[in-house]
Amino acid sequence: MKQKEILLFGASGQIGRNLIRKLTKNNYKITAVTRNIHRTGYILKTQANPGYLKLVELKNFNGDKIDELMKSVSICINLIGILYEKSKGQFKLIHTDLPDLLSQKAKKYSLEKFIHLSALGIEESRDSKYANSKLIGEKKIIKNFKNHIILKPSIVYSVDDNFTTNFMSLLNILPIMPIYYNGKTKFAPIHVTDLVDIIYNLIESQNKSIIMECVGPEVLSFKEIMQKLLNAIDKKRFLLPLPLPIAKLSAKILQLFPKPLLTEDQLNLLKYDNCSSGIYKTNYDLGFQTTRKFDLEVEKYSYNWRSGGQYAKDNNLKKTK
Ligand SMILES: NC(=O)c1ccc[n+]([C@@H]2O[C@H](COP(=O)([O-])OP(=O)(O)OC[C@H]3O[C@@H](n4cnc5c(N)ncnc54)[C@H](OP(=O)(O)O)[C@@H]3O)[C@@H](O)[C@H]2O)c1
Repeated sequence: MKQKEILLFGASGQIGRNLIRKLTKNNYKITAVTRNIHRTGYILKTQANPGYLKLVELKNFNGDKIDELMKSVSICINLIGILYEKSKGQFKLIHTDLPDLLSQKAKKYSLEKFIHLSALGIEESRDSKYANSKLIGEKKIIKNFKNHIILKPSIVYSVDDNFTTNFMSLLNILPIMPIYYNGKTKFAPIHVTDLVDIIYNLIESQNKSIIMECVGPEVLSFKEIMQKLLNAIDKKRFLLPLPLPIAKLSAKILQLFPKPLLTEDQLNLLKYDNCSSGIYKTNYDLGFQTTRKFDLEVEKYSYNWRSGGQYAKDNNLKKTK
């Protein structure tokens, strides 16, 4: 049987790198699109066996170039996303206009499926530009192409993420960790391996049209997540709830940094829970179980932030004997 060819946008991100490994191991051939082969190529090339991964550099989303790429594939996956804008209008460009263009092209070339990664909880968070741009992007896809698979994950984590690893770095150095909205916002963190397994199963399945919320096995508040990370790195820190005006002021300042830890838009988004909304079916409803538990997974890589490094766990065991 001729194996399917897949066109992947946003390949160099956390989900992309893991997905390339899963798909190429299972004999799928991938054409991965990246903006800068020099910057990302050396990582991407190690994710697949020779012959299974082709890298294409695209600096901007030129319709003709995308036509050329879509002609020879059966599935297109879009993983491109940003958390903050570096210039005005970037959310619209990345989360709305690009999925609009890709889904039109997917229809033009009669692809078997167009798989798009959106986000959870964006229906409610109307005061976030991130959420609105993602939501309008979903609507464009639904209108353009019937063979759409839209996945809406909660926070995706792994050793390779920008979430648990960044927070463990902060918790490691800060004596006091500010938390917003009293740390009550709820999340259903999903491990990247579980999410990639869901995407793989959807590629293999006959199902061509689904909108699914992707959640892990636990619902945890922001404060609980911080406490679990502190446990994992074996540190004690004071979690300080910031009053909203001060939180807003801190976001105004932090968003001026080149890689902001927090923006005003993210602060708005943090107000809303990020677990199953009841609007769409979840992976559990559709028979995709996620088994990886937050504590156990984070424990596997948290030693990087423990005093004493990898062997600190053994030292602690000795202490308690
Ligand atoms: N990670 C999460 O917790 C999470 C949660 C909910 C939803 N999602 C969504 O899932 C998708 C994939 O997530 P991820 O964590 O793998 O994302 P990621 O690590 O941030 O990577 C996304 C990719 O998007 C591309 N990209 C970034 N900025 C761009 C820009 N200005 N123009 C064009 N391309 C750009 C980059 O590819 P190149 O540098 O190779 O061009 C990057 O590798 C995103 O749509 C994200 O919003 C993620």
